[in-house]
Amino acid sequence: MTTRRSLHTPHQISPTERDFVSEPDSATLDLDAFPAGFAWGTATSAYQIEGAVAEDGRAPSIWDTFAHTPGATDNGDHGDTACDHYHRWPEDIALMKELGTDAYRLSVAWPRVLPGGDGPVNTAGLDFYDRLVDGLLDAGVTPSVTLYHWDLPQALQDRTETARGGWTERATAERFAHYASVVAARLGDRVGQWATLNEPLCSAWIGHLEGRMAPGWTDLTAAVRASYHLLLGHGLATAAVRAAAPGARVGLVTNHSTVEPASTRPEDVAAAVRADGHTNRWWLDPVYGRGFPADLRELYGVELPERPGDAETIAAPLDWHGLNYYFPVTVADDPAGPVPYAREVRLPGVPRTGMDWQIDAGGLEAFLLRLTEEYGVSRLYVTENGSAFPDTVAPDGRIDDPERARYLEQHLAACARALRKGAPLAGYYAWSLLDNFEWAYGYDKRFGLVHVDYATQRRTVKASGRRYADIIRAHRTRTG
Ligand code: IFM
Repeated sequence: MTTRRSLHTPHQISPTERDFVSEPDSATLDLDAFPAGFAWGTATSAYQIEGAVAEDGRAPSIWDTFAHTPGATDNGDHGDTACDHYHRWPEDIALMKELGTDAYRLSVAWPRVLPGGDGPVNTAGLDFYDRLVDGLLDAGVTPSVTLYHWDLPQALQDRTETARGGWTERATAERFAHYASVVAARLGDRVGQWATLNEPLCSAWIGHLEGRMAPGWTDLTAAVRASYHLLLGHGLATAAVRAAAPGARVGLVTNHSTVEPASTRPEDVAAAVRADGHTNRWWLDPVYGRGFPADLRELYGVELPERPGDAETIAAPLDWHGLNYYFPVTVADDPAGPVPYAREVRLPGVPRTGMDWQIDAGGLEAFLLRLTEEYGVSRLYVTENGSAFPDTVAPDGRIDDPERARYLEQHLAACARALRKGAPLAGYYAWSLLDNFEWAYGYDKRFGLVHVDYATQRRTVKASGRRYADIIRAHRTRTG
């Protein structure tokens, strides 16, 4: 297996010893901090679990193309079959029930619904999500639908109009809004909570600048243009969903890391400001009405394809914000490195997950409070949080995964602390319900609360999943 750097940009913060020696375990988790009605959920995404890539009229996405490019993914893994969720969704809903979750975050595959990116609607593709949503509701699980989790129709990537195709084109943002309205018109009578994009940072920076995700480019100009059009698409889709499904609650899901300088040297402090801008401010400032940060515009040196009115579209008021948090980073100045000229510094003695990501739940608490205080977010969800560790299946079939359970407990404790300090946190979606296709890392990295044996598609709830179920049950007992 190849060694890769983190899928996220490696610019983040240093955990302090305090953060992990004082974390409570579930016995002392402050469950009373979580309000009644708190959404306890799990999350997945279409390409990572569905499989059935050529079924019922689905066309290829950029991830089908990328995953089938030699050397792009570990072991040459791809999502052709994945967890076969397209056929096994009733069993997967039963697992959600077994865990006691009452919320589920899924994504819709654009190339199932509009195989050409725009043009004719593929009714059979929409029918799948219709069945899934009905199945969830019948089971008492509330769906939260994300419209774009990285699977751009390949047809749009190939359509070069004024730039290099895909998200470098303004037309893609407009077509995304059309697709959003098609999905919202079909599901909006039953789905109340909608997210436009998942982690636009990954689409733009990792996909177009670092080359480790689809479309696999290393082009700063393309990356900056893509970042702009992704956020424009978010704003246009927000309005489109509201128009097609009055009453829809629309939000955006972004991934963040707290960023700390490796030392008090002015160069390292400046590097941390740049890295924080690249990872955090670039994605939040425009959405919350502050425009694209001036220091980063200068750093990138790429003219944004701005038009009058875009800033207002991008800053459309949202009903909620979704935070995906996995790890913090600590950075040092790296003038010879790539944008943003900050390299991650490994702190000795800090625990890491199987992704080689630092474990520090303090960063989750800090970021929930930052969104609350600095950006004025009035309704928050942790839309993803979880950990990959190598799992061992015991002879009796059990999977005991204490590290994943501990990570979960530590991060729920961080949520409790943030709630006590005033964060308007309304729900937590564990990543992930199932082990699944972890993008360029393929199937070896397992984030699931439920183990998947890919040879047989057998699902087994891990000990961490049972721990989550215990916590949910204990909370419900308290709040009635
Ligand atoms: O698997 C991914 C997911 O698709 C997006 N957020 C991070 C997860 C773990 O890397």
